[in-house]
Amino acid sequence: MPKSLITGASYGIGADIARALAGRGHDLVLVARSGEALDRLAVGLESEHGIAVQTLHADLVVEADLERVAEAVCDADILVNNAGAGLGTSFERTTWDEEQRMLRLNVVAPARLLHAALPAMLRRGSGRVLNVSSVAATGPVWQGTTYGASKAFGLALTESLAYSRRLRGSPVALTALVLGHTTSRFHELAGIAPSPPLLTLPSPYVAERAVRAIHRRRPPVVCVPSARYKLLAGLLRHVPRRLLTLPGLADDFTTVACGDAGESAGGDGEHSVLAAEAHGQGERQL
Ligand SMILES: NC(=O)c1ccc[n+]([C@@H]2O[C@H](COP(=O)([O-])OP(=O)(O)OC[C@H]3O[C@@H](n4cnc5c(N)ncnc54)[C@H](OP(=O)(O)O)[C@@H]3O)[C@@H](O)[C@H]2O)c1
Repeated sequence: MPKSLITGASYGIGADIARALAGRGHDLVLVARSGEALDRLAVGLESEHGIAVQTLHADLVVEADLERVAEAVCDADILVNNAGAGLGTSFERTTWDEEQRMLRLNVVAPARLLHAALPAMLRRGSGRVLNVSSVAATGPVWQGTTYGASKAFGLALTESLAYSRRLRGSPVALTALVLGHTTSRFHELAGIAPSPPLLTLPSPYVAERAVRAIHRRRPPVVCVPSARYKLLAGLLRHVPRRLLTLPGLADDFTTVACGDAGESAGGDGEHSVLAAEAHGQGERQL
């Protein structure tokens, strides 16, 4: 049985990717901090699909935990770098601790796990990597925040490696999953309002599309589930940047006057987020 390691599998999109892989008979290693939720999912998937599921309770922001997961990924056939979070506060108003945690989770952890998994996959001559990115990686739609930049790293890294001579001719394949707004706890945890239902994709649908994509003989380097978001991501990549200053086209987290920003700079994230909402932000995020 192929073995897949999925980060951020306790709930949200990662849990649905785990369900979709379990449905194809994969053994699983599920990684997240919420031990109880992971264990519950593992027991359910084992009994429903007759597969072996291991859980790794790990905070990917913590170096020692990340190294434990890096060790476990070496013999995985599929790596899903899914764990991630947003920070719905403008850059000058976050604390450095908040920024570091997000960068460790969205940038350092996926890079570390890919670095651990790839040499073994190339030696074995098989393997798949799914890096979960965002439409926010294709243009400045969360203006004034680090989130888009952090997700752009995963997209750029995937493309850089996938188009390299070493990987182009190899059976090992990397795919960046470029997501628009999807049902999960993401927006609530980042402290921002969800998108209108018309723009929201169900997480099980997104997960199934992603899992189908990585099972193709030649998986796509970039997978954007849904025609709507394919169009939006394409436009965002090419639209003249000055158009993104037009009201309603992208959300700007920095509209708070400098004096207000000074007040909350260095304060806790919750205060910053509430202040941003009071200024009419958090309207439509990807
Ligand atoms: N939902 C969207 O609209 C959307 C759009 C574009 C891209 N994305 C991307 O999709 C991915 C999945 O997000 P989601 O929407 O499913 O969000 P979610 O519902 O908040 O789930 C996030 C997952 O990551 C895990 N996680 C968070 N911090 C972690 C840490 N420090 N160490 C280990 N695991 C951690 C969480 O588990 P624990 O809390 O148990 O650790 C959870 O399993 C993220 O990379 C996100 O950037 C989401």
